Amino acid sequence: MSAHEERKKLQERLQLERRNLPVFQAKSQILEAVEKNQFLVLVGETGSGKTTQIPQFLHHSRLYTNVISQDKAQHRSARHDKRMMIAVVQPRRVAAINVANRVSQEMGCTVGSYVGYSVRFEEKYRMGTTAIKYLTGGMLLREAQLDPMLSDYSIVILDEAHERTAQFDILLGLLKSIASLRPLKLIVMSATIEAEKFAHYLNNCDIFFVGGRQHPVTTFYSVLPQTDIIDATVTTILQLHVDKPAPSLLHEESKTRRSGDIIAFLTGQEEIEEAIFEITSRAKERMIRIESDSHVEGDELATVPLAHSDDISLSLELLPLYAALPFDRQQRVFEVSSDLHTRRVIICTNIAEASVTVPGVSYVVDCGFSKMKYYIPGSSIEVLQAKPISKDSALQRAGRAGREGPGECFRLYPETEFSKLTQHTIPEIVRVSLTSLFLTMKSIGIEDIYSFDFIDMPSLSSLEKAESSLLSLGALERPPPSKKASLMNPVHPITTVTSPLGQAMSILPIEPHYALSVVVSPLFDCQSEILDIVAMLCSENLFVVKHGKESSDDQDHEQGYAAFSSERLKKQFDFDQNKNEGSQDGSDHLLLQRIYQAYTSSASRSVKWCRVRGLNKRSLDRAVRIREQLARYSLQVDKIVHSETTTDQSPEIHSLKHETAKEKRAKPSPDTSFWSPLPSEFVNVTTPSSERILKCLLCGLYMNTATLIPGKKNEYQTSSSSMPISIHPSSSLAAAALEKEKMMKREQFKERQASRKGVDYSSPFLLNMGSVYPEALMFSELVATKKLYLRTCSGINPEWVDIVRTINLSDCLREFSHH
Ligand code: CDP
Ligand code: MG
Repeated sequence: MSAHEERKKLQERLQLERRNLPVFQAKSQILEAVEKNQFLVLVGETGSGKTTQIPQFLHHSRLYTNVISQDKAQHRSARHDKRMMIAVVQPRRVAAINVANRVSQEMGCTVGSYVGYSVRFEEKYRMGTTAIKYLTGGMLLREAQLDPMLSDYSIVILDEAHERTAQFDILLGLLKSIASLRPLKLIVMSATIEAEKFAHYLNNCDIFFVGGRQHPVTTFYSVLPQTDIIDATVTTILQLHVDKPAPSLLHEESKTRRSGDIIAFLTGQEEIEEAIFEITSRAKERMIRIESDSHVEGDELATVPLAHSDDISLSLELLPLYAALPFDRQQRVFEVSSDLHTRRVIICTNIAEASVTVPGVSYVVDCGFSKMKYYIPGSSIEVLQAKPISKDSALQRAGRAGREGPGECFRLYPETEFSKLTQHTIPEIVRVSLTSLFLTMKSIGIEDIYSFDFIDMPSLSSLEKAESSLLSLGALERPPPSKKASLMNPVHPITTVTSPLGQAMSILPIEPHYALSVVVSPLFDCQSEILDIVAMLCSENLFVVKHGKESSDDQDHEQGYAAFSSERLKKQFDFDQNKNEGSQDGSDHLLLQRIYQAYTSSASRSVKWCRVRGLNKRSLDRAVRIREQLARYSLQVDKIVHSETTTDQSPEIHSLKHETAKEKRAKPSPDTSFWSPLPSEFVNVTTPSSERILKCLLCGLYMNTATLIPGKKNEYQTSSSSMPISIHPSSSLAAAALEKEKMMKREQFKERQASRKGVDYSSPFLLNMGSVYPEALMFSELVATKKLYLRTCSGINPEWVDIVRTINLSDCLREFSHH
């Protein structure tokens, strides 16, 4: 078959599939409903074609142009012949990219032309050409910072709205208010849950129901609660594989519909990879053949040699699916397999709960948990922890089995547990830190956040906490008295405005505390190094983690994190934890920088180079790309910081997207020429560079600090919470402590030997040693497994924190730019 014929065949198949989707039948009614209403809530089962089809319907309809011409009439002079776009907002990167690819395929164009996408650090669209743009909520919010009316769009679709991410809630309010000012159409698409609530919020708008085609799903519960969900998942998958009939093809007309595959929901990447490792090793014992994963590069995934057995009738193919998985590996999950000798097992996070449709699934294994971000009560620290899901989620998960035929769902918890679950998932906005969103809202121009029309009002205390932490970071400041006395709003007078520092921070698409460090890095003469570190922190899965059968937190030293033994660090990255000048007892942040440097200056940048060092090449390459982008952004940051204009920043920021200048790598200037307005006892020409880097990071992270509890070995407390927290074994600090302990034992042994011989010897090492773990540290991440762990941390001098608290970085920055 020629390439042309092949394309034609694919198009025919795609068009046939499209016509069979439930939304296709309702096309004209949907278009009519959109035409009649400015707001519309559209409800339909996952897989009915909402995400992929509705934007295409709108694009091909007259309606889309109608809206444009209406808009033109109103803003005649401003934007004359600008083509407007349809924005389809997704809660996840994966879904945005995946769907944009699919829709381009259906429309017979390349992704980035008529159909494009935009997610953090990655975009493919062309202004003037792209008509349908899939993007994440975060990206649309960023666009709103540049253009608060979102005037590039005639229609915005908020997809998977039931997921209720905090960004969605804000967009919802923002879009509602934009719609009262110009004829923007807003469509909220969601699974059945929450539809009424959205409609009520959007001035009691209509709800359009798309008839689904959900087949019955039988649900089974485990008799007893499970203590080890990974083990239970693995056991269930293997049992299903042995018990259930081989996959088969359904639906004669399209030879692709399939049944008999398994989807299992777990909480996160580590759990998923551990489960895959487990299945692979147990399958060997049970003579089950595992398809080797030829697409895997490096050793991210256990690729155990095939267990050859006589029974080759049905093998298992294990497919992970999580947000950080490289794109081409994610793609494999969506491919329809016609191989009936292989049962596919997709092991995924919440991604596949509603946002993406995985074909062929008849069996669902639901562990009953998902990872969620939430506050540690009484503190300002956020933690990611596995929590029981809601009933809505459980039903949604079960629904994955009934897409193409009757299915079965296996819940790894008793029915009594199910009945105790909350009905709805708690919206993110009421359980996470709002610091970042608060700043975003301020930079969009939403001045009074306390009276913003939220669909669910976050607690007053979490808003206040966000505001006060931005104030203390210097991103917000109190305006002069004239502006303060706001008669317009007597309830909540506007008491804070974005400072130039805050404006500069909001340009950077990263967490405020890292953004702050990037913005203030010139004060510490370490711009380049901070960019290295932040890029590394933004890229996930830098280290290859190997799972062992009896892997427990305590054994992780030996098991997976051998990459961190001091010997290896010294040899491979010329990095000595204990001798690193400036750092107090080791630093993961400095290690990240060292690795970045080693990688980018290694001639080959090869897979082998990475494998030997226990690193993921893909993640490092991603870090390199992220750094390039951050560097471009920070050129803009510099401009803002240096320009006096603090009121109208948009032209500055606007040129951001078109910035092409190659980054001029900040050359480490000789120490003698370095001047900083910071207190000279804090930073001066003699401060070693590693210490300056840590101090710069601390400016952003100073609320993420912890001190060793007196008398404890590895137990820390933060200023805002008394719960004990430990350094995670994956930290290089843990490895350094281990080393120190060994050294200590050797020295003690020497002392004992000496005293036995009657020699007077006291080890200088033991005299100067202090505690094995650092007295104080700052951390990037807090994770909760069996207990609370700090991940990616650096030892600091506790006195630094007190100094950082007193510095007004906004003023320093002003002074610096005048110098
Ligand atoms: O948004 P909704 O869940 O209603 O459905 P959709 O994402 O538009 O998917 C419609 C159909 O397209 C599904 O049945 C999928 O099988 C198919 N699809 C696909 O094959 N590959 C993709 N990348 C996306 C969708
Ligand atoms: Mg969808």
